[in-house]
Amino acid sequence: MSGQTAPLKGESISVDVPAKINPHLGVGDPRADGYHALSTVYQAISLHDTVTAERREEPGIEVTVSGEGAGTLPTGEDNLAHKAAKLIALYAGIEPAVRLHLNKRIPVAGGLAGGSADAAGALIACARLWEVEIGDAELHRLAAGLGSDVPFCLKGGTAIGSGRGEELKPVAAEGTWHWVVATTDTEIATPECYKEVDRLREDGIGRYSSDVEQIVRAFETGASADELARLLVNDMEAAAVSLRPQLASLMHGGLEEGALAAHVSGSGPSILFLATDVKHAVALARRIRMRGGARSVHLAHGPVSGPAA
Ligand code: C5P
Repeated sequence: MSGQTAPLKGESISVDVPAKINPHLGVGDPRADGYHALSTVYQAISLHDTVTAERREEPGIEVTVSGEGAGTLPTGEDNLAHKAAKLIALYAGIEPAVRLHLNKRIPVAGGLAGGSADAAGALIACARLWEVEIGDAELHRLAAGLGSDVPFCLKGGTAIGSGRGEELKPVAAEGTWHWVVATTDTEIATPECYKEVDRLREDGIGRYSSDVEQIVRAFETGASADELARLLVNDMEAAAVSLRPQLASLMHGGLEEGALAAHVSGSGPSILFLATDVKHAVALARRIRMRGGARSVHLAHGPVSGPAA
């Protein structure tokens, strides 16, 4: 901080925003607007980004990034956090003058909603920094305009998602489940994976898993990890593996090392391995790391609360 004035109290706001996973991800047909109907269960996990909004003298929105994606993530108007700051300023009728710093731990383009988490964090941090009076419903509307996962990233916990993913119904989950998150050297852009789902469906591969009842009950009743392992569903899994065939061996390897289940996270390519408990997760992470094939291996548990629970 040499040569800089430390921010005065109230001039800088930091918000931690968790990554999301989809223990159930049912993907329907494309709708008239191009989005796919979803029937999903979201859960926030302990891997998180920190979004800091700091006042700056000159007007404008400046984005800096450290950690995951630093140097490669766009920091201009294409960045979702930048868009979020612009949107909340527009809502408040003020000219934005903010420096947003994203300290990223959530892998980029990994199917863990890292960009959406940053957008949710920027909405909250800027609203607090500028003392914008905004109700939950209005914040939700702005979030949905930024992306289908952004409303959930505002909320955290566990929730059923419908519509294109933006319509949420909270689930009172009783318990904590432990995961090993393995990232890969490749990325999958979300639209690419949806297109592959459509292509495979034309060939008669895959169907819409629209029923979330059983897995929701499992979360509500504190089901064991063994039970949860049998209920995980991802309609995008075949598409993600078809696009990046190396995912199959990573998943298979984790199962051989004792994971209760291997599950593609969202549209991939991150892989989630379900563990029995924290001790099992630590041992499993070590074995998956030693085996090679993953770019990075993280421990995570969920559900955790969101930035604005
Ligand atoms: O909503 P979001 O901007 O995150 O979506 C990114 C892209 O993913 C969309 O442009 C669309 O191609 C695809 N998508 C979809 N159906 C959804 C959500 C996203 O087809 N329910």
